[in-house]
Amino acid sequence: MSSNKADIIVGIQWGDEGKGRIVDLYAERYDVVARFGGGDNAGHTINVGEQKLALRIVPSGVLQPHVELFIGGGTVIGLDGLIAELDKLSQLGVDIARVRISDRAHVVLPYHPAADRADETARGDNPIGTTGRGIGPAYVDKVGRHGITFGDLSRADIVAQRIAFNLERRRSSQGDAGLPSERELIESTLASAQRILPHVIDGVTYIHDAMARGRVLIEGAQGSLLDVGYGTYPYVTSSHTIAGGACTGLGIGPTAIGSVIGVVKAYCTRVGAGPFPSELQDETGERLRRQGGEFGTVTGRPRRCGWFDAVAARYAVALNGLTGAAVTKLDVLSGLERIGIVTGYRLNGAAVGFGAIGQSGFEVEIEEMDGWAQAIDGVRRIADLPPAAGAYLERLESLLGVPVETVSVGPERSQLAR
Ligand code: IMP
Repeated sequence: MSSNKADIIVGIQWGDEGKGRIVDLYAERYDVVARFGGGDNAGHTINVGEQKLALRIVPSGVLQPHVELFIGGGTVIGLDGLIAELDKLSQLGVDIARVRISDRAHVVLPYHPAADRADETARGDNPIGTTGRGIGPAYVDKVGRHGITFGDLSRADIVAQRIAFNLERRRSSQGDAGLPSERELIESTLASAQRILPHVIDGVTYIHDAMARGRVLIEGAQGSLLDVGYGTYPYVTSSHTIAGGACTGLGIGPTAIGSVIGVVKAYCTRVGAGPFPSELQDETGERLRRQGGEFGTVTGRPRRCGWFDAVAARYAVALNGLTGAAVTKLDVLSGLERIGIVTGYRLNGAAVGFGAIGQSGFEVEIEEMDGWAQAIDGVRRIADLPPAAGAYLERLESLLGVPVETVSVGPERSQLAR
């Protein structure tokens, strides 16, 4: 049977690019929206009128009532958080029978956030600044081959045996502190499993059937520069966030992929520690944070802000094989007299690439463009942007080297220019 190609939307900076609303926009034309990695460290916010929908786990296609929502095998998900999110969606009138979870996804257990926090404390003066959700330790258990999958949740014997093993392992290395009793944890996990099991399916069969009968949109979490292999390691998350991660995270081959759209903010932000070449630690950075509402969806932490970084963006275009881009939050730059773009990196004076980030002797080259004073939140056609905003967008497009398909000009679902 011939299959339709699946399309991918990924963030190409350090996360928080505004993927949620772009997925929401594109999802109209798809039958399934699938997530392939990460867990509730992600936070997608979609504004609908007065209502602000903050999702952590369920894909952003949720507002399109015809769309099936699939949480793929590459994710790591806590049961309590998932139940709370499903309950909240249910209260908002969403039919949660549309949510399906791959049997290959891994369960985040209460000892994972505890280990995440302990690891951060152990890093002392040099923490990663994780979201504290246990994502890293859950992936460590997966790769260490003692994790619990959503498929395992239907087998009480496996759940009990693996929880016992993992608690014992942790007790012998870190002592009893903060660890739940074995019986308590097995009972609560099995009780939560009863709520979740009706959503658990054979994920590989599901995604291949979905591509055979309709159109699948794949939604990335976090951003390419947080990828565990290709980001600013070790200041990264613990999964492959780039488009290639969609193949392993869903169990599909590279030939199953159609287009890859990168979501990119008109400036840059980063939450947590790690190098950030275009960071503005001044009044302009503060203004971007205020104007852009740059505070974490999951942790509420203020995000670090800086200029658009074309070197990092082009690196991410290559990592993902982008075919197009969506630029978000262009309106946040309105009112700035001059706008900077990082166009080059230098190490002791010599031109270098992304890999040199963080080394001593590292410097950036900044190009400046004129800003625009007018508000642009009412603009719906790219051609109607004030000339300086149009010129800035054209510059981003030429630096990215892929067509910009859509631009967000305000937080509302409808505030998009094409
Ligand atoms: P972890 O994913 O909780 O292990 O955190 C590792 C790094 O990724 C930290 O710098 C977090 O701030 C960052 N991070 C994780 N998820 C997101 C996200 O959805 N947006 C932005 N940063 C994130």
